[in-house]
Amino acid sequence: MKGIILAGGKGTRLYPNTIAVNKQLLPIYDKPLIYYPLSVLLLAGIREILLISTPEDIGNFEKLLGDGCQIGVHIEYEVQAEPRGLADAFIIGEQFIGNDSVCLVLGDNVFYGKDLTRMLKNSIELAEENGAVIFGFPVKDPREFGVVEFDSDFNAISIEEKPQEPKSHYAVPGLYFYNNEVVEIAKNTKPSARGELEITAVNNHYLNEGKLKVMCMGRGISWLDTGNPKGMQKAGNFVKTVQEMQGFYISCIEEIAWRRGYISTEQLVSLGEKYKMTEYGQYILSLVEQ
Ligand code: G1P
Repeated sequence: MKGIILAGGKGTRLYPNTIAVNKQLLPIYDKPLIYYPLSVLLLAGIREILLISTPEDIGNFEKLLGDGCQIGVHIEYEVQAEPRGLADAFIIGEQFIGNDSVCLVLGDNVFYGKDLTRMLKNSIELAEENGAVIFGFPVKDPREFGVVEFDSDFNAISIEEKPQEPKSHYAVPGLYFYNNEVVEIAKNTKPSARGELEITAVNNHYLNEGKLKVMCMGRGISWLDTGNPKGMQKAGNFVKTVQEMQGFYISCIEEIAWRRGYISTEQLVSLGEKYKMTEYGQYILSLVEQ
C-alpha cells in the first residue's frame, strides 16, 4: 500500500499564523505538524509516500523531509495548484499510486494511542479485501466534520459532510484506506456546490456498492483537532504532557523508523547528533542507550 499526505490549504482559520507559513509546518509543541500524519504512515508500515502541497509551500516540505531516505522511506512531491478538494489527491497521485492500494492522511490530523498500529494494519487488510475503510471517532458536536452512521457489522449506512443535523456522533477523521478503484472513482466525481471534489463523495460511492467499512476509534485513541489556534495549543499541551509524564515521544519519526528497522542505529545517532542542542535530539540519542 502507498501513502498520500495532503498538506495544502490556506489555513485561513489560523491567520495570521499561516500567511507566510503552511499550517502543516507550524509546530505542535516540539515538532512540525506534518510529523504527526507522517508517523501514522510509518506506523502502518507504508514507506512509499507522496506529499501534496501548494506551489508556494512544496519547497519547504522538501527542505524539511527530503527524499525520506534519512528515515528509510521514499517521499515524492506533487503540487496542487488550486484547492480542488481532498479527492483530487488521487487524481494528482494517479501515477504514483499505479496499481497499488492507497492510504490518504490529511496533513493536519494528529492521532495517538495504544491500539493505533494494530488498527492501521487491520485497515490495510480490510481495504484491500473490501474496498474502503474509514474511521469513526465519537465527538460531542460532529457538525464540522464528515459524519458516519454504521450498523452493528461496521458497514457504513450513511456519510454526510458537515451536516446541520448529524445522524450519529461519529466524526470521520482525515485518514482513509482504499483499494485501487479509488483513482477511477475520484476521476468520475463531480465537484460539490463549493466546487470541490469531496472525499465524502468518494466514500459515498464505496458505500453505495456496500464496500465501505468503518473502524471505531475508541477510548484508547486520541484524535486531536488542529483547526484553530486553541486546537493547536491544546494539541501541543497534550503532546508536552504525555511526553513529560511517560518519557515516550509522540510521533518522533526518527524513533519510529529506527524501531521498525527502516534505519540503522548509526543512522539514528547521526539524526540525534544533528538536533542534539534540543530535547528532541537528546531524546533520539537516549534511545540507543536504553
Ligand atoms: C475534512 C473532511 C471531513 C473530515 C475532516 C477531518 O474536512 O472533509 O470529512 O471530517 O477533514 O479533519 P476539513 O477539515 O478539510 O473541512
